[in-house]
Amino acid sequence: MRSTEASRPFVFVTRPIAEQALTELAGFARVDLWDDEMPPPRAVLLERVARADAILTLLTDRIDAAAIAAAPRLRVISNLAVGVDNIDLDAATRAGVAVGHTPGVLTETTADLAFALLMAAARRIVEADSYTRQGRWRTWGPHLMLGRDVFGATLGIVGWGAIGRAMARRAAGFRMRVLYAAREGKAGAKPGPHAAGKLAGARRVSLDELLRESDFVSLHVPLTPETRAMLSGREFRAMKSGAILINTARGEVIDQRALYEALASGHLAAAALDVTSPEPIAPDDPLLSLPNVILTPHIGSASHATRLRMAQIAVANIRDVLAGRLPRYCANPAVRLRKPH
Ligand code: NAP
Ligand code: GLV
Repeated sequence: MRSTEASRPFVFVTRPIAEQALTELAGFARVDLWDDEMPPPRAVLLERVARADAILTLLTDRIDAAAIAAAPRLRVISNLAVGVDNIDLDAATRAGVAVGHTPGVLTETTADLAFALLMAAARRIVEADSYTRQGRWRTWGPHLMLGRDVFGATLGIVGWGAIGRAMARRAAGFRMRVLYAAREGKAGAKPGPHAAGKLAGARRVSLDELLRESDFVSLHVPLTPETRAMLSGREFRAMKSGAILINTARGEVIDQRALYEALASGHLAAAALDVTSPEPIAPDDPLLSLPNVILTPHIGSASHATRLRMAQIAVANIRDVLAGRLPRYCANPAVRLRKPH
């Protein structure tokens, strides 16, 4: 027997996502789409979650304890991202609400961007492009736009997860020496040549040693209380003189003011940031005044194919929970799913 329209689960989608995925979602749910580039205002979000069985969110939607408390029917928050720092995971778990996310599918695309930023910062590509467009290119010069070699340099990877390891695979092609720092006491963090490290010819070191030794430091940790501002003044001073920082993790993982000082003083050669705090970066942020800073608008996973796969996984995560199962990619697997309203 076909369910009537009113009995179909109600899903609030906070932004237009790939059309194909929306069509898949509409096949099993009533879809309420917030059809705007900007996030729904807080009042709208609270009003919609109050009626929703599921929500499909972006990383710019703050789903805190108050939003979860305002959603008595809600069974799943499906985030179109691998990071879930915009969601209060504990509050969701306590309420019996599953949190879905999209790991894996965006790994290579994000590592591509991180490596592109590394190359661009090393070889001053953005500066050189502006120089050329501004008509300042007069002749070939032995001192013109000198940068840093990538081939054979040391890359320090902070966070030995999916994207960190994908970064190491790229570095192997440039014969880079790869160091990585991981959390104490975690399987992926065992000292010595464990399988994942060996695969990429990488060596596990402490964060301090990584900062001291690396020509390039690339961040790949999630934003957690432990990683918030994990690189600040002390850590930037500990970095090699002339080193380059790449951040495609989250802006809050670094102290941006301290980064500015390390760059403005000439201690660090450059930084390339796909993520900032806040997002978008404040128009008066001093980092914007530095020519040796490359900024991109949080586009790590932004390829056509990857964004479609992410949207399909986000929809599949919703389908799973509405069918009574944990989402296949679940960020709070300890959750005991609440019963349908
Ligand atoms: P992942 O596979 O979960 O890897 C994260 C790694 O960080 C894990 O190995 C984790 O270790 C480690 N970690 C956590 N806390 C740490 C700490 N205090 N010190 C050292 N290592 C720590 O996730 P992923 O797919 O690689 O993504 C990583 C992050 O990248 C996401 O959370 C997101 O914030 C960001 N991201 C950004 C973009 C973008 O568009 N710029 C795109 C995708 C992802 P454990 O195994 O011990 O937990
Ligand atoms: C993007 O930043 C993500 O977490 O997927």
